[in-house]
Amino acid sequence: MCGIVGYIGKQQAPSILIDGLTKLEYRGYDSAGVAIFDGSDINVLKTKGRLSNLIKLVIEHPVSGTLGIGHTRWATHGAPSDINAHPHMSEDSEIAVVHNGIIENYMEIKEELLKSGWHFVSETDSEIIACIIDKYYKDGMSFEDAVFKAVARLEGSYALGIICKDCPEKLIAVRKGSPLVIGKGNGENFIASDIPAILNYTREVYFLEEDEIAVITEDSIAIYDKDRNAVNRDIYHVTWDIEAAEKSGYAHFMLKEIHEQPKIVRETILKRVPESGGIDLDNIKLGKEELDNIDRIYVVACGTAYYAGLIGKHLIEKICRIPVISEVASEFRYKDPILDERTLVIVVSQSGETADTLEALRISKRHGARVLAIVNAVGSSIAREADDVFYILAGPEIAVASTKAYSAQVAAMYILTCHIALTLGKMSEEEFEVIRAELYSLPSKIEVILNNKSVEKKLAAKYKDVRNVFFIGRGLDYLVSQEGSLKLKEIAYLHSEAYAAGELKHGPIAMIDENTLVVAIAAQEDLIEKTISNIKEVKARGANTIAIAMKGNTKIADVADDVIYIPRTMGILAPILANIPDQLFAYYMAINLGTDIDKPRNLAKSVTVE
Ligand code: F6R
Repeated sequence: MCGIVGYIGKQQAPSILIDGLTKLEYRGYDSAGVAIFDGSDINVLKTKGRLSNLIKLVIEHPVSGTLGIGHTRWATHGAPSDINAHPHMSEDSEIAVVHNGIIENYMEIKEELLKSGWHFVSETDSEIIACIIDKYYKDGMSFEDAVFKAVARLEGSYALGIICKDCPEKLIAVRKGSPLVIGKGNGENFIASDIPAILNYTREVYFLEEDEIAVITEDSIAIYDKDRNAVNRDIYHVTWDIEAAEKSGYAHFMLKEIHEQPKIVRETILKRVPESGGIDLDNIKLGKEELDNIDRIYVVACGTAYYAGLIGKHLIEKICRIPVISEVASEFRYKDPILDERTLVIVVSQSGETADTLEALRISKRHGARVLAIVNAVGSSIAREADDVFYILAGPEIAVASTKAYSAQVAAMYILTCHIALTLGKMSEEEFEVIRAELYSLPSKIEVILNNKSVEKKLAAKYKDVRNVFFIGRGLDYLVSQEGSLKLKEIAYLHSEAYAAGELKHGPIAMIDENTLVVAIAAQEDLIEKTISNIKEVKARGANTIAIAMKGNTKIADVADDVIYIPRTMGILAPILANIPDQLFAYYMAINLGTDIDKPRNLAKSVTVE
C-alpha cells in the first residue's frame, strides 16, 4: 500500500528511484512521483496514473541529482490526481516527503498550520508532514530536530522518506506501522518499502522497527528510537535473487506464480516433513507442554490468507479436537476477543505487513496469548513480532492476487495439524505415514493440473459473457469456494459469491437463472451425493454448471455441464489441488475481459492501512 524509495550517494538518483518504483508498483499504482535535489533546489515530478506516465515525464523534463525520494501511490486521502501524488513539499519547497500510511490526526495539525498562515495544495494527509517539519525548521530547529519533533506529533501509521533543501547530505527515514528497509551500499545508501526495490544495488539491509528514525548519509546509517537513543541493528543479508521477483517469460506474474506452486509446495513440505522422518518445526515452541496449556486456538488473517486459515481451523478441529475460532483480522481487533495465556493465536499473512493482522497479533500478545505467525515475507513486521514464525518459503509474490502463498499456507496448515495431532496423540504414526506419502505426491499432482490448463482456458472462453457466478461446496470444498470466488472478483471484476452448497436454498437460489454460472467444488467424496443434489437444484433453475471433482468420479459428469478433474488424493488434502482450477479459471476469465491482471483496479498488494 504505497511504495517508497530513496537514494543518497554519488550516482544519478532519478534512474535508481524509477528502477526501485517499478519493483514497488504492486503496492500502489494510481500515481507516482520523485523529488530530486539538483544541487540547489528540490525538483518534484509527479503525475496521476501508472509509473509509465512518470517515466514519460522524467524523460520530457530531465532532472539530475544524487539525492532523491520516490513514491507510487494507493490513494487513501484525496482522489488520485497530479496534485495529490507524492512527494509533497512544504510551501516554499524546503522539505519534501513521501509517505506510506495514514495520519489520523492530520486535520488537527492542518488547522493549526492554517491558523499560522500556512497554505496547502493537496487533499492529502501527507502534505501536513512536510509542512509541520518545515514549521519547526523555520522556528530555528535543525532538520533532524524538526523531524523528531514533528514525528512525535503524528498519530496513525507511516513510513516516511524526507529530504531538506538545506541539508542535502541527509536522507531521513521514519517507520511506524508501515514497513521500511534501509539498504547499505558502498558510498551510497537506500531506503525502500520492500527489498526488491533496492536488490539491484545491495543485498545488505536493515529493517527499521516501530517508532524508529534513521538519519542516513552516503557513508553512514544511524538508527534512533523515538526517545532518540541510538539503536544497534544487525544487518540482514538477502539471499534470494531479483529473478525470483521477475516474470521469467510468463505473460503475467500471476501466471508465473501459479506455475511456481509445485516447487513451493514441495519445498514447504520437505523442509518441515523431511524424508528422514518426523515433523521438524525448527524453533517453533509448540511441544507437548505448550499444547497441553492451550484451551483454544484463534486463526486470524485477511483475504486469501484468511481462507487458507479456514482450512487450518477445519483440520485442527476435525483431527486434533481443539476448538478453533476463525476471525478476519479487521473484526477480531475490535470485538474484544476472549484471549488469555491458554490461547494460541495463529496469524496468517503473505506480506507480514497487513495492518489489521499486525494489530490482531499485538492485541493477542497484550492479553497474554501466544502468537504463531504463518508468514511469507522474511523479516516482516508480523514475523518479527510473533512469538514463533512458520515461514512458508513461497518467495516474493508480486501479482496482487495471491496464489502461490495460499497453496503454501494451506501446506503449512497440513503440517501444523499433523504436528499437533501427533504430539497430542490424536493421530497414530501409521496414520501420519499415509498422510506423509500423500503430502509428497501433492506437487506432482499440482503439475498435472497445470499441464491441463487448456481445460480452464476453454471454459473461460465458453463462459466469457457470464456476469454472475456462484461458487458452492460442502465442508472443505466450501472453504475452497471462498478463495475461488475471491480470485474471480479480484482480477476479473465479476460478481461472484461463495455459498455453502446446502445454504443455497435458504435464499440465494432465488438469484439463479440461465445467466448464472455455478462452480461446484466436489472434491470431498463423502459429501458428493449432497453436492450432486445441489448441482441438480441449480441446473433445474437454468444455471450453467462446472464441477471440480477428483478423477474417476463419473457420476458428477452426468449432472454438471462441465467437469474439471483433479488427481485423486485424500479428502483432507484435496483443497490444495481443488483450488488450482479456480485460480486458472479466474486468470483466463480476466484475460478474456482484458483486465489488468497483476495490478487489478483499486487493490494493493500489501494493505498497510486498516
Ligand atoms: C487476495 C489477496 C488479499 C490478501 C490479503 C492479506 O488475492 O491478495 O486478499 O490475501 O490482503 O494479505 P497478507 O496475506 O499479506 O496479510
